[in-house]
Amino acid sequence: MSTGSTRSTEATDDVGDTQPLLRVEGLKVHYPIRSGLLLGRQVGAVKAVDGVDLEIPAGRTLGLVGESGCGKSTLGKAILRLTPVTEGRVEYDGTDVAALGGEALRRMRRHMQMVFQDPMASLNPRQSVETILTEPLRAHGISYDKQRRVRELLDLVGLPGSAAAKYPHEFSGGQRQRIGIARAVALEPRFVIADEPVSALDVSIQAQVLNLLEELQERLGLTYLVIAHDLAVVRHVSDEVAVMYLGGVVEQASSDDLYAAPRHPYTQALMSAVPVPDPEVEAKRQRIVLAGDLPSPADPPTGCRFHTRCPFRQETRCDDERPALRLVAPGHRVACHFAEEIAAGTVRPHEVTDQDVADAQR
Ligand SMILES: Nc1ncnc2c1ncn2[C@@H]1O[C@H](COP(=O)(O)OP(=O)(O)OP(=O)(O)O)[C@@H](O)[C@H]1O
Ligand code: SF4
Ligand SMILES: [Mg+2]
Repeated sequence: MSTGSTRSTEATDDVGDTQPLLRVEGLKVHYPIRSGLLLGRQVGAVKAVDGVDLEIPAGRTLGLVGESGCGKSTLGKAILRLTPVTEGRVEYDGTDVAALGGEALRRMRRHMQMVFQDPMASLNPRQSVETILTEPLRAHGISYDKQRRVRELLDLVGLPGSAAAKYPHEFSGGQRQRIGIARAVALEPRFVIADEPVSALDVSIQAQVLNLLEELQERLGLTYLVIAHDLAVVRHVSDEVAVMYLGGVVEQASSDDLYAAPRHPYTQALMSAVPVPDPEVEAKRQRIVLAGDLPSPADPPTGCRFHTRCPFRQETRCDDERPALRLVAPGHRVACHFAEEIAAGTVRPHEVTDQDVADAQR
């Protein structure tokens, strides 16, 4: 992470030299839909994550964005094995986490932690900060000097030692998220997933918490997966950004490349919705308004998952053939059959109405 608007290109140039700490391959999480007496019969599945591949080099941050319901949190939970994996591999430092169980999984969990969106909901209101911060250590049977460790952790997240005896309700939202972060790093993990870490916070506090995550990355050598709705948040903290649509990653590139030249029609639509600070540029910009809603992950469209809403859809390839996430420029992957033609302007967009989307989904 860096404190500027995006991380420098310099920081992303040598990505190829760094071993991935996390590698996800063909990951699927399908939640069964049950019906009948006592819900015994499976009648379908919500394909919340449906074939995701990604890599995060050690010490780097991957930002993950996409519409509500596209599977971001499910992907995060599956990586940490907080939800069952239907298919695929999650490799952490060379070990397949999806295949671990019992004591081996518990030991692995020590290295992989999560910061949640709502610190009030994720902290036990009846526990003092001291108890909250030392519980993970106790649970993992790690011996520690209580006063010293709590002071160290509070110091690390910029809270005074007097916070130890207090309870979550005695803090502001930003301070509570600092406690959540201190708890996540208590076990000295190497990998942290932050799921919407600032979306419950006041805009004025968001930058402080993001800066804290950045500082901790440098001091503790952390590797992050940061999930966010807000493209600005992801841009601020990420070396690389992955864009998710209906259970799959549709584009992944360095933060600079993705924001300067998004190549997938869905990413282009997401970007065009973000206001540009310069009013002149803003006035001239062409907005791509996405028609219709995100289709149901219980009955996703055939072929390219985005074809029902895509202004560049070409019959019948887009309807029949699911595009693979492929390299279209150095370090830039896109899941679109026509990525090159769209970039060259040889495939023109057409208007998509809500009615078209409804017809295509039938
Ligand atoms: N335990 C579950 N059982 C059944 N369906 C689930 C479960 N958890 C999530 N889903 C469904 O899986 C899909 C993906 O949900 P998920 O929470 O991963 O999305 P998200 O991208 O994190 O959304 P948001 O931005 O709103 O947090 C949604 O359709 C959701 O309803
Ligand atoms: S594969 Fe076809 S439908 Fe999918 S994004 Fe590309 S042009 Fe659009
Ligand atoms: Mg979520």
